[in-house]
Amino acid sequence: MTPMSPSHDGLVSRALAAFEATPAALQGLAREFTDQMSRGLAGRGGSLKMLRTFTRQPTGRESGRVVVVDWGGTKGRAAVVALSGDGAARVLNEDVFTFTDAQKRGTAAAVFDVVAAAIGRVVDAHPAAEYPLGFVYSFPARLEAIDRAIALALTKGWRVMDLEGQDVAALLSAALRRRGLARVTVAAVANDTVATLLLQTYQARGADPEARPADVGLILGTGTNQAADLGPAGIRNLESGNFDGVAAIETRYDAALDRELTDPEPGAQRLEKMASGRYLGELLRRALVDSGAGGRAFRGLAGSAFATPFAVDSVQLSRIAADHTPGLDGVDAVLRELRATSTQEERAAVRDLSAAIVRRAARLVGAALLGTLRFIDPALAEGRTIAVDGSLWGGYPGFESLVRDTFVELVGREAAERIEIAFVKDSTGTGAAVIAAAASERSQACSSG
Ligand code: BGC
Repeated sequence: MTPMSPSHDGLVSRALAAFEATPAALQGLAREFTDQMSRGLAGRGGSLKMLRTFTRQPTGRESGRVVVVDWGGTKGRAAVVALSGDGAARVLNEDVFTFTDAQKRGTAAAVFDVVAAAIGRVVDAHPAAEYPLGFVYSFPARLEAIDRAIALALTKGWRVMDLEGQDVAALLSAALRRRGLARVTVAAVANDTVATLLLQTYQARGADPEARPADVGLILGTGTNQAADLGPAGIRNLESGNFDGVAAIETRYDAALDRELTDPEPGAQRLEKMASGRYLGELLRRALVDSGAGGRAFRGLAGSAFATPFAVDSVQLSRIAADHTPGLDGVDAVLRELRATSTQEERAAVRDLSAAIVRRAARLVGAALLGTLRFIDPALAEGRTIAVDGSLWGGYPGFESLVRDTFVELVGREAAERIEIAFVKDSTGTGAAVIAAAASERSQACSSG
């Protein structure tokens, strides 16, 4: 963050100071995170769900043609993926689908019809072929088998009727039958974080069978979450966005946002509400409106989109960070899109506040990652790999450096250097193909053996 310039000192200084997380608070968060992992695994409550995944680390030799479908936000994706058995994968056919706001609040059957229609479009080219399908379901689900996943409360602003408590694999299979696609069999359901983790291992072991598997899969996009390979406890979906040990770091903007939202409900997804792409623009909006309230600053926000919740998105925060022009023309362009006018001093204040909010997000994510790594390896003595994907991580300039700096700050340079971060772009679909191929190979081995 740029040090606060005297010119906008006073405009946003209170908000800027509030978004600064101290190293001691982050250390406390990391410790609490590790403790809550133990509690979750032992079934002793806590905010980390530690859900089972019924997956194993891939060998890198998984092969075959698989259909994948990815649903976890406004945009979804279906594809046919060919795995060549050497760590490589090719997307043969792809289709993107989008949900309307009405569908986000509609029935489960309507959502699954949209998903099944997209699958129909990608398999149409081969009308006779039978396919296993890997379903990336990027919401919380309690798996009872690799192909049985009971939906828990949704996140990221979704509220689909009659979904909670239902098996999402069965709902997808029913929608596929309604479309005459019974030749596509749901072989595996996986969280996006699990798909990212396993794809990194597939690629590494495809190149070198002895390669170290990935330890953690992290998504930081609209939502955030981690999966981790916990050895004897298997690969778990932590649902880390729900982590609630954030009291020492939360600002009054976080508290108000949490209190006022109904989906997800107050108290749920606390870490996600402070760190993921869906919420960072909203925190900026709230802090700016508050900084201008009743004073002389930010008069140009009056009558603008800043009055509308969720009008500011994280892509705009990335554009603000990428603006290096002397007059802050890029910040001006973003503000104008939101129908706000500004002085240069106000633009500098917007830039610094936005940077402070994203920097805090990176530090929270970094501390939570250390919480997981220390659970696996308390002394951080061995090399570890974190596989990462997601639009905020990939789109915000310098995000990874902010997380790396947090590692150095909290555990020292030597230990931090043993942590490898692998950004695996567009990982979820291909990762799901690896999971489904492994699952269908295993079920064939069981039925023939
Ligand atoms: C969901 C997770 C998901 C994450 C990233 C969260 O809101 O609860 O299941 O992995 O978003 O997509």
